[in-house]
Amino acid sequence: MNSYISSLIKIDVTTARESYPIYIGRQLQNALGDEIANLKSQGSRLAVVTDTAIRQAIPQYFSGVFEGIPTIEVPPGETSKSLSEFGRILDFFASNRLDRGGVAIAFGGGVVGDLTGFAAASWLRGVRFIQVPTTLLSMVDSSVGGKTGINIDSGKNLVGAFHQPISVYEDLDLLASLPPREFAAGMAEVVKYGMLGDSELFDMLEASPLMDSRDERLARIVKRNCRLKADVVNTDEKELAGSGGRALLNLGHTFGHAIENVAGYGDYLHGEAVSVGFVAAANLSQRLGYIDSSQVERISNILEAHGLPVRLKSPLKKGNLLSAMRKDKKVRAGKLRFVVLRRIGEAVTEDEVDLDLVSTVWDEVGTID
Ligand code: GLY
Repeated sequence: MNSYISSLIKIDVTTARESYPIYIGRQLQNALGDEIANLKSQGSRLAVVTDTAIRQAIPQYFSGVFEGIPTIEVPPGETSKSLSEFGRILDFFASNRLDRGGVAIAFGGGVVGDLTGFAAASWLRGVRFIQVPTTLLSMVDSSVGGKTGINIDSGKNLVGAFHQPISVYEDLDLLASLPPREFAAGMAEVVKYGMLGDSELFDMLEASPLMDSRDERLARIVKRNCRLKADVVNTDEKELAGSGGRALLNLGHTFGHAIENVAGYGDYLHGEAVSVGFVAAANLSQRLGYIDSSQVERISNILEAHGLPVRLKSPLKKGNLLSAMRKDKKVRAGKLRFVVLRRIGEAVTEDEVDLDLVSTVWDEVGTID
């Protein structure tokens, strides 16, 4: 193993069938370049999927690490998690004769990672893929754990597969070109990990918000998030636990996905929609008697301090949000399942939530009838 690898943070994700490393650090081009060279020397065909904005923002990866590797670009944004872009990527794999030994590389944010992962899971019934996340949100959440998929009109992430990458490279230097709004959206998922399982992290971010990728705490915080996520995925990869388990990572997401679905993909960044969702989940937790108003206020304040919305940007119809929620894949046996907080740092799943309560909670974040 090369010497620079030992200076990297390495976390292993170990599921029932697979084990793979997440590397976290700066200037990871050499480490990733070595893995690519290794795969090429074994005769593997490679293919990169990225988006047009990333290719322009980070050209050095394409002139260096990905030199000579066939590359396809998708338009930036959530609308690319579509059946048509999925089909275009499969055709790209076909025209580049990606065979069973081939490896797809997802170079981008959550959209590129989810789309590429699902294409890799489907092509020839499954080829390997590498995640190289370029946004904070994808580093701390979506690139880890093997959830891949696309959206259809009926809802977000309703079509997909669990397909674990063979490795994840989290180069924090890539975040330097991330617009502040995207950085803040990533911080939503970081705050989520504090709320659901790491009260020390929550306290630290509450005392001093993390607003910039140059903040020296970043590597430690990303590591902490990935460790927590890896532990959850190791015990409940496919989100099948009767209670708790991987479902806890969906804190605020049933609300957030409904907002994205009703507002139209593109109005809210995912992190922004789930930020409003966290406030709704906190209000629900209070109404169920778990937390008090001061804790709801702390949650709202920490999100605002990170530049995130805590109410809908403009009113959405409550009926539309409620029907979007009913289509969520977290519906079990016709009942909506929510993740609620017992306190800051501890979340639980709650299966029998009264829909009237959910309706009231929507009112509190600015819906209209
Ligand atoms: N983003 C939630 C999960 O990976 O389970």
